[in-house]
This record gives sequence, C-alpha cells and structure tokens, in this order.
Amino acid sequence: MPLQGLENTDKNSILTEKPQHIAIIMDGNGRWATAQGKPRTAGHIAGAEAVRRAAEAAREAGIRYLTVYAFSSENWHRPQEEVNALMTLLVQHLSSELPLLLKQDIRLRTIGNVSLFSEEIRTALQETLDKTAHCKSMDLVLALSYGSRDEITRAVRSIIKNAAGTDNLQITEETIAAHLDTSFMPDPDLLIRTGGEQRLSNFLLWQMAYTEFYIITTPWPDFSKDDFQKALVEYSKRNRRYGHV
Ligand code: IPE
Ligand code: IPE
Ligand code: MG
Repeated sequence: MPLQGLENTDKNSILTEKPQHIAIIMDGNGRWATAQGKPRTAGHIAGAEAVRRAAEAAREAGIRYLTVYAFSSENWHRPQEEVNALMTLLVQHLSSELPLLLKQDIRLRTIGNVSLFSEEIRTALQETLDKTAHCKSMDLVLALSYGSRDEITRAVRSIIKNAAGTDNLQITEETIAAHLDTSFMPDPDLLIRTGGEQRLSNFLLWQMAYTEFYIITTPWPDFSKDDFQKALVEYSKRNRRYGHV
C-alpha cells in the first residue's frame, strides 16, 4: 500500500511502497555531548530517549521491523568507562521501557553476539525478550555486540557444523541467509544514519545489498519524529530497480 498522505514529486515513478523494515545507525551521541561541554555518556543518555521516539514513530507509521545499531563488535574497544556506562543504560532501559513495549504491542529482539555480555545483562535481556514474545505489531531489534563480519563468520561455522558427518553440504544464498542472526525478518528497505558519516561501520553488510540509504547530519540525540517522517517521505520517492531496467 502506498504511504498515506505523501505526495510523490516525481510523476514518472511509481510511489514506492511503505518500508517493511527500517534499520538505523544511531550515531553522533559523543559529538552531541562534547559540543555542549558534557561528558560523552550524557550523549548516550539522551540517545536512549531518542530510541524511544524512533520506536514510537515507527510503530505509528506501521513499520513492521525496526533494527537499531546500539553497540557494535568494535565498540568493545572504547574506554572501559564508556562501555560500562552503555551497559548500565541498557539494563536500566530494558526494565523502564517494558510497560511501553507491552502497551504498544512491540516485541523486543536482538541480533549480535550477545554471549559476550555479562550474566546480569543477559538475564535482563532475556526477561524482556520473553515478556514481549507475544507482541505482534512491531519487532524492535537491538543490534548488540553486533558486527556483520562476525555474524557471517558465525553463520558459516554453523552451516559447516550442521553438515558435519553428512555428505550433504549444499550452500545457497538462502542457506546463508537462514543462518544469519536476522533470519526471522526481511532485509532492510531503508537505512537511516544520523551524525553524517557515510559508511556502514560493519552493519548488516549482507542484508543491505539493495537497501536505500538516508544519511542526515543531525546527531542521534536530536533525532525527532519529524526526522523519521522526512525519511519516509524521501524513501517514497526512491525508485528501487534491483539491477533491472
Ligand atoms: C553512537 O554514538 C552510539 C554508539 C556507538 C554506542 P557515538 O558514541 O559513536 O558518537 P560519536 O560518533 O562519537 O559522536
Ligand atoms: C556505529 O557507530 C555503531 C553504532 C551506532 C552502535 P560508530 O561510531 O561505532 O562507527 P564509526 O566508528 O564512526 O565507523
Ligand atoms: Mg560514532
């Protein structure tokens, strides 16, 4: 169904259907804080509020999957103090946001190598995953200790392990996709990156083969529902060809 109420300015192209899956690289927290003379962690605190706004906006727009890049496999190399602050924020928000997730019928899921987190975090995560498992209106997918190369490496290992002892090692694109952390959802239609950097930073490399990119300089803590709407309008004007004519 075309996006309601959105005018397509290019009369030669067909209105692109509403995205089913939006992925977001939430970048610019640190720079936002530094510009205000605050510690980087203040940016992460404000960034967590922006996640709530984005999830609400996506839910209101009827987006089925929203994947947010919260912590990359490379982010472990940041100063211990910053990593600890991010972990504390995660645990706090998992419990404080639960009522809102339930009220809005949003299921929380994760992708990434969550086994690297502490037991306290894994327990808090599992509790929210379980309590929202019945929710059906939207999946909010947190990419945690996520790196695309790590994900693909784990997938290849798992394919080989499954085939061990058999003479049946068939690998197709579908086999690989089915072993990725994202196997439960379609590829992203739209990628939003805040903070202005024009790169993927190891996010969903396989899955974004034909994703539309929308990059804005706004730092993540300032991301508003209006910014989300603008991304949808921009997406509706794109002409996705998938290599065809
Ligand atoms: C994104 O903001 C949040 C995480 C990576 C956890 P940054 O912390 O990368 O902020 P900048 O890019 O340094 O401004
Ligand atoms: C990407 O941001 C990771 C997350 C948003 C969690 P980074 O700030 O880590 O990416 P680079 O270092 O600018 O590529
Ligand atoms: Mg950054």
